[in-house]
Amino acid sequence: MILGKKFGKIKQNKQKKDMEKIDLERLKELAHSEISQSKNLKELDQVFKRYLGKNGQVSLILKDLKTVSPKEKAKLGKEINEFKSFLEVEFVRKGGELRSSLVDEETGQWIDTSVPGKKVNLGHLHPLTQAKREIMMIFQGMGFNVAKGPEAETEWYNFDALNIPADHPARDMWDTFWLKSEKPRLLLRTHTSPVQVRYMEKNQPPLKIIVPDKIFRHEATDATHEAQFYQLEGLMIGEDISVANFKAILQEFLRRFFGKEILIRLRPSFFPFTEPSFEMDIGCALCDGKGCLVCKESGWIELMGAGMVHPKVLENAGLDSRKWQGFAFGVGLDRLTMMKYKINEIRLFHSGDLRFLQQF
Ligand code: PHE
Repeated sequence: MILGKKFGKIKQNKQKKDMEKIDLERLKELAHSEISQSKNLKELDQVFKRYLGKNGQVSLILKDLKTVSPKEKAKLGKEINEFKSFLEVEFVRKGGELRSSLVDEETGQWIDTSVPGKKVNLGHLHPLTQAKREIMMIFQGMGFNVAKGPEAETEWYNFDALNIPADHPARDMWDTFWLKSEKPRLLLRTHTSPVQVRYMEKNQPPLKIIVPDKIFRHEATDATHEAQFYQLEGLMIGEDISVANFKAILQEFLRRFFGKEILIRLRPSFFPFTEPSFEMDIGCALCDGKGCLVCKESGWIELMGAGMVHPKVLENAGLDSRKWQGFAFGVGLDRLTMMKYKINEIRLFHSGDLRFLQQF
């Protein structure tokens, strides 16, 4: 170490008790160049220790100060103190410079501060959750309550209470996920309709509810089918609720959800728990009824099952079917979301693919 050698010489001089010969000016120059040449804080720290450390040059010189004549002591002491302050100022200056410099301390490499910073990725709600919340807002705005029921449902609520006979194909093990349970026999609910009965048992009409929730079907998946998806159930019961109310409410919901007027049409259908039953189609929101791949060139898309609640269902929930009547509907929430955002593949919802999710 160059400095060491030079200091060695100085030390020899000191040993000869020839303190006057310590060339503080020269030492100052050396220190200055060492400090200036430090490339990082680590190097600067080493230089600091050599000069101002416990056994650094300054303390060595101070120790030797005892051996000089009192007259010299005063003069030299003053000079050493000046040297010390000089060093301190130099270290602070260089330290500040290094700390704000554009050099990586570890690697010694130049840091380009013009490179854009690392972006902090903020997550957001899943498109299905966004759609679910929006739907809830719209229906709540029309006076509907949001109701819930268990995902592991009893055979009674999922089927019997809804007037679905024991030999109905939906009860087949190929269509339903049965759980390993006896008394009561449990299954993963195949629709949100069981919540109709559960809610009517506990709440007196007039009532208006929606049930936006998860359901399960033993289904082979493809672009439009999943084994697990969401349904939006609706139920409105009063003394004189009719299909006209159903049409008005759904028309308004669709207008608000899609942000434009949506054509609807009803076709006769069958469900064991509604009488009469119908399917509701909407004018294809993708091609505005002109005809496209999604609506199979028909301009219409089958959207939901609906109907007037079957008297047996009302009775099963403990209501007087001569006094109360109303409508119920069930629609795929995933389906609604797909149509709103023009998504052609239902499996994308559960894929966790960020390229898809980040578009919402
Ligand atoms: N629960 C039916 C289904 O899953 C939909 C439906 C709900 C039909 C309410 C009529 C009334 O297909």
